Amino acid sequence: MNPVRSMSRVVLPLLAGTVLLLAATPATSADLAAGEKLAIERCAACHGKDGNTPIDPSYPRLSGQHEDYLVQALRAYKQDERKNPIMGAQAKLLSRGDMLNLAAYYARLPGMMSHAR
Ligand code: HEC
Repeated sequence: MNPVRSMSRVVLPLLAGTVLLLAATPATSADLAAGEKLAIERCAACHGKDGNTPIDPSYPRLSGQHEDYLVQALRAYKQDERKNPIMGAQAKLLSRGDMLNLAAYYARLPGMMSHAR
């Protein structure tokens, strides 16, 4: 038997399986536990432990905000598109993965903009 053909008989189905697995993984598979850890370590001091009780009224509440918005805000600070010395410095310490995890975490906490009915 041709060794190349027998190889492809084994390898191709394996490859196909890998592609299916990758396609089934959501684009943002954020790690909420990692987000929470970072949030407590680096963000809680200013934004509050629950993301809703900032130490100064001029500091924004993060909890319950849209996940995409939070990612976008952090990226803008990091790239100095949104200029703020405090958050610029904070965002520069974050990787893209950190941002996704933090945004996923804060977006899932109850925000002040939603009301119990
Ligand atoms: C030293 C205080 C401080 C720390 C620490 C801090 N922030 Fe901030 N954060 C601020 C201030 C002040 C602003 C408002 C800046 C502005 O006017 O753009 C802000 C704004 C933000 C915004 C924009 C919110 C909005 O509604 O547009 C996000 C998102 C954010 N912070 C996330 C974080 C995350 C995530 C961390 C932890 C990695 C963090 N911050 C740590 C002070 C802080």
